[in-house]
Parts: sequence; structure tokens; C-alpha cells
Amino acid sequence: MTYLPVKGEPFTVSMGLRTLDFDKWIEIDEEYEVELAEKRELLTNRKSEVFAALPGGLAGSVEVLEKLIEFLPEHFPQKFSSPLIPDKSLHPLEAASLLVQEDLVIMSPQDEQWVLTAASVCFPSRWDLASKVGANMHGIHEPVPHYEDRIGSATDAMFTKFTSDRPVWRINWTVLDSPDLFQPAVTGHKARKHSGQTVEEFGDSTYFRTERQTLWKLPNSGDILFTIHTYRDSLNSLAKRYPEFRIQLGQTISTTSEETRAYKGWVPLWDDIIAWTKHAN
Ligand code: HEM
Repeated sequence: MTYLPVKGEPFTVSMGLRTLDFDKWIEIDEEYEVELAEKRELLTNRKSEVFAALPGGLAGSVEVLEKLIEFLPEHFPQKFSSPLIPDKSLHPLEAASLLVQEDLVIMSPQDEQWVLTAASVCFPSRWDLASKVGANMHGIHEPVPHYEDRIGSATDAMFTKFTSDRPVWRINWTVLDSPDLFQPAVTGHKARKHSGQTVEEFGDSTYFRTERQTLWKLPNSGDILFTIHTYRDSLNSLAKRYPEFRIQLGQTISTTSEETRAYKGWVPLWDDIIAWTKHAN
């Protein structure tokens, strides 16, 4: 799937929530087998980095697994047999996460805040799950410039008013110098001022990474499920398919603040990114 949330408009940190057609809750594409194999490998060999579950997240986890068992054979009958039998030896959220490409996060209400109580996150975009477990939305988003002043209280209010019959979705995007899906915080960007690559080489080895995120208030447990489906394409392949993308990315990215550029890890790539956006298609 390709999402191009950059249309040349000035960059702002915004909620950007849209109503989700629930038939489109989960997306499956041709990367399914490869990504599920990567998830299985990470959940076996690096579990403490990609999975966490507090007791408070169990009811939501059980519910997510139940919902997927219902949803998947109904919406993807060629892929999933009915009844779909999950691996009962696993924590329900781990079993759930091994059915879909999405990362799954359970947020539970606690002392008037929403806190992360269970998660399977195999494809983080330069952050560490362990540091977010038990944190509320403000704590989770602490490194994000402009989150607090622009959308922090609106997001809290939205979570409080959220109802099960109106799931929503949004897109986050970034530019990264690696196609890896598993990019914990330590990955970091290679320290470089200018790569020495040609613009063409840079565009082949630099990726536009999008996260399609959905939020759904689970009807029984009352927890909120947050799903993240990560996609990435090289800059050049996008420019080939969508010729306007190059200019539009340049227009939007050049309006970001210093803080946003630092947070996104763009500083070492900056000269190359700008050169790429100005290059002829
Ligand atoms: C309406 C709901 C939400 C909004 C509007 C929102 C917004 C954002 C924004 C704007 C960013 C910065 C991303 C970027 O520019 O690259 C971000 C990052 C992030 N968000 Fe959210 N978010 C929401 C829900 C959640 C939830 C439920 C979680 C639970 C895990 C979450 C976890 C994160 C994490 C881990 C990061 C990266 C933080 C870091 O770099 O350490 N978000 N979010």
C-alpha cells in the first residue's frame, strides 16, 4: 500500500484523524509472509525489545485476539481458514500480532489518563517499547516536538470521548536512510554531513516511511487498541510513480522546525534530502 500524506502544504504536527471504515481495519499486502517471518524471529530472539504486557492489558489483549479471529476469515477468506485457531500457548496479544502485519498496542484507562498496558511492536521507527510501558500519552510523546502545545490536550480529550462505534485512522510519515522495519532507537542515523552519493544513489537508498495507524475503543474491555502498519518505498521509486511527489516533499519538509528535523534524525541527511527534492525527475 502506498500512502502519500505530503502534498506540499506547510508541515504541522496535527491529529489528522479520519473516520475508519471498519471493513478496512486491517490491511494485508504482498509483504505479509516476509513481515510475519520477521515478527516471529523478533518475538523469539528479542522478545524483551518488541513485546510487553502488564496485567492491566490482559482483558484488552484477549478482546483483540477475539476480534481478529472474527475479522480475518471474514475479510480475507483466501488467506485465513474459518474457524481460525490461534496459538493458545502464547499471550493473547502475541498470538494476535502473529496474525497481522500491524503492530498492536493496548491503552488502558488509569487515574484519568490512558496508559500503555500491553504491546507488540516489532517495527518501531526509532523508539524503544520498553521505555513506554506504563506511560501515559504525554510520557509516550515526550520526545515529539510540538506534541504538547499543539495536540496533547486535544488527544486526551479525544480519548476520553472516544466511542466504540467510531474507530479512526491517521498517518505518520518520515524519511529514513534504511529500509529496515525493525528500527529501535539505538539504530540512529549514520553520522554524515554529505553522503558522497549522487542524488540518484541517495534517492535509491533513502526511504519515505509511512505508518497507517488506527484507533478503536474496544467495546467490552473499554481499552483503546492502537494499530500501526508500516510501509516504506525508496524516494526514487515514489518519484517515478508520482512525479509531483519530489516537489511536494520539498515544499513540506523545508517548512519543518529545527526541533522537528533533529527529532526525525534528518540533520545529517538534510543537504542530500534538499538536493533530491530539487533534482529533475
Ligand atoms: C490520536 C492519537 C495520536 C496522535 C495524534 C499521535 C501523534 C503523534 C505524532 C505527531 C508523533 C510524531 C511522529 C513523527 O512526526 O514522526 C507521534 C509519535 C509517536 N507516537 Fe503517537 N499519536 C497518537 C497515538 C499514539 C498512541 C496510542 C501511542 C501508543 C503507543 C503512540 C505512540 C507514539 C510513539 C512511540 C511515538 C514516537 C515517540 C518517540 O520518538 O519516542 N501514539 N505520535
